[in-house]
Amino acid sequence: MQKRRSWAEPYKIKMVEHLRMTTPEDRERAIAEAGYNTFLLRSDDVYIDLLTDSGTNAMSDRQWAGLLLGDEAYAGSRNYFHLEDVVRRRYGYRHLIPTHQGRGAEHLLSQLCISPGDSVPGNMYFTTTKHHQELAGGRFVDVIIDEAHDPTSEHPFKGNVDLVKMQRLIDEVGPERIPYLSLETNVNMAGGQPCSLENIRAACALCHEHSIPVFLDATRAVENAYFIREREPGYETASVADILREICSHADGCTMSAKKDALVNIGGFLAVNDDTLAERARNLCVVYEGLHTYGGLAGRDLEAMAIGIEESVEYDHIRARVGQVHYLGRRLMDAGVPIVRPIGGHGVFVDAARFLPHLPREQFPAQALTAALYAESGVRSMERGAVSVGRDRETGENVYPALELVRLTLPRRVYTQAHLDVTAESIVDLHADPERVVGLEMTYEPAHLRFFQARFRPVVGSVVLRRRRQGAPATEPAAAGSTIP
Ligand code: F0G
Repeated sequence: MQKRRSWAEPYKIKMVEHLRMTTPEDRERAIAEAGYNTFLLRSDDVYIDLLTDSGTNAMSDRQWAGLLLGDEAYAGSRNYFHLEDVVRRRYGYRHLIPTHQGRGAEHLLSQLCISPGDSVPGNMYFTTTKHHQELAGGRFVDVIIDEAHDPTSEHPFKGNVDLVKMQRLIDEVGPERIPYLSLETNVNMAGGQPCSLENIRAACALCHEHSIPVFLDATRAVENAYFIREREPGYETASVADILREICSHADGCTMSAKKDALVNIGGFLAVNDDTLAERARNLCVVYEGLHTYGGLAGRDLEAMAIGIEESVEYDHIRARVGQVHYLGRRLMDAGVPIVRPIGGHGVFVDAARFLPHLPREQFPAQALTAALYAESGVRSMERGAVSVGRDRETGENVYPALELVRLTLPRRVYTQAHLDVTAESIVDLHADPERVVGLEMTYEPAHLRFFQARFRPVVGSVVLRRRRQGAPATEPAAAGSTIP
């Protein structure tokens, strides 16, 4: 077979969306008005939006055509049956309960399975997942391997479950107080890091020995399947679709935010094998989401999701998607910027604690770096550190996690390599003179999932990014982009 050299995209651009170019003064004003929280910026003020890969995908012409096939019947829409068929074929679960997005499915699963006082193990927390588990009275217990908390560890499967930690929890609280293992594929908060099939098989076997069900968070399971093909002996020639089926076959069901892997702008689902659980989920779905054949979505959304799932498992698609993320990561690594290793599947995670060693953790270095990067170049990123983790539920104190990260998340099929060059250049510029970045203090803290709406101010002065010192080298990335040879 001919050796494939580039990860270049298996598609071309048919329609463009214009971006507004901003000046440093515009951006300084915008980030101050947003309380130094990139979630509170207007997207019109953003040049390159790497806030999230969630719902920001570019749909294909096939998906747009599918929207016109939307059957907007209240009940029994044909698009529901199409999606059910695709989910059965690609994920392998018998029952499909659509939801408006991933957290809708997390809500249903948590309410149905968790009793107050239960322990819910997971391979690292995700914000909404943990929140729903706690709202249902559960206590999240982290059972991911230690390497996941070390941004410098090169472990190829940092998403793996630590079987010793899992066994210890079973011994401590008893299997009857563990409603399920929440097993996330391509673990987001660890930096988009995969689980090996060997570990998924073993973790599921351990749980099943004790009659503990396993539910996947399959949000980025296709990216995980791609990494298994690349890294796990024995899977070099397997198709990504077959690996995905095998991952799912070990678990009892999954929650899914289709806004990621499945290439749509909205949607999600809960999928399970157990008939009784499915019946109960359908019943709860009508209370919170909508009738069980639409789950808060329009028929056309279901159709776009069905087509998106089929496109998501195509090898050339997923290779280009992950290839683009790795291109950005390698540019930063080559310039000495501290990032989480190995490079993950959906984004590049900058180690803000090492990037800004002059800022104490109480001044939220990752939050400050997101604000400064925006001010520098109009690139929007997301804090994934102490602000995202929140407070200890018992002591009320801020929790300072091992990972204090800034996530540069790549929407699928949206940006070009030149956009990534601009992003890399502006981060490298900041890294050359990190003391320009000023720490932040929180001025408003909402009760739930505070990172979305919290507000901050600089601890000194009135800007988060001091001007360059005279004579310091600089490019003006948003205006100039990559140097033209
Ligand atoms: N699980 C994981 C692993 C996620 O990354 C997300 C969302 C969800 C569940 C919840 O899904 O947003 O559709 O309700 N992650 C987004 C992100 C918000 O930016 O990482 P949702």
